[in-house]
Amino acid sequence: MPMALSIRDVQPGDAGELAALLNAIIARGGTTALEEPFDAASLDAAYLTGPDVHCCVVAVDTATDRLEGFQTLGRRADLPAEVGDIGTFARVDGTQRGIGTALFAATLVRARRLGLARINATIRADNDGGLAFYDKLGFTPDGISAPLPLRDGTPVARISKSFDLAVRHER
Ligand SMILES: CC(C)(COP(=O)(O)OP(=O)(O)OC[C@H]1O[C@@H](n2cnc3c(N)ncnc32)[C@H](O)[C@@H]1OP(=O)(O)O)[C@@H](O)C(=O)NCCC(=O)NCCS
Repeated sequence: MPMALSIRDVQPGDAGELAALLNAIIARGGTTALEEPFDAASLDAAYLTGPDVHCCVVAVDTATDRLEGFQTLGRRADLPAEVGDIGTFARVDGTQRGIGTALFAATLVRARRLGLARINATIRADNDGGLAFYDKLGFTPDGISAPLPLRDGTPVARISKSFDLAVRHER
């Protein structure tokens, strides 16, 4: 049976469960550019309710109340103020079940309400799933960085993609 999801704004009490969810993705490796684990407080400050967070939504499995993923939109010092920087995370054992897509529908509503002009996604060049995900949502290529070393020294470039909020996308 397909999982029934509900999407809601993050609450401070979600931080511990979301830190564990993200830390499992970091520990598996090969996708997110994040390499250091978070505790509840550091995750909350950086991506959930901290001062540079525009909005953050979570996906809840309505049958179990378990959090299945989250999507954050924040300010990034090297991007214009009207551009939100997105990050999306689904449980390592729960990808390609529509969690990221459902989160994005909610983020879009919030981003437009906030008056943002554009959403930026920065993705590791070796993260095929992440690149395909943002392509599917309608993000278009913006550029590629020079290779940056991971913690183990492996050079991996970052690809930027963006979503223009003024354009009516086919969804
Ligand atoms: C990237 C990520 C957020 C996608 O979330 P998701 O819930 O699996 O995405 P969805 O199920 O909504 O997928 C939507 C579409 O994206 C594409 N897609 C998603 N994951 C994919 C993968 N691993 N390989 C190929 N295509 C993929 C598909 O086109 C998919 O549509 P389809 O299932 O109808 O083919 C998830 O894989 C994840 O958490 N990855 C680890 C963290 C990360 O890399 N985040 C992105 C950088 S911030």
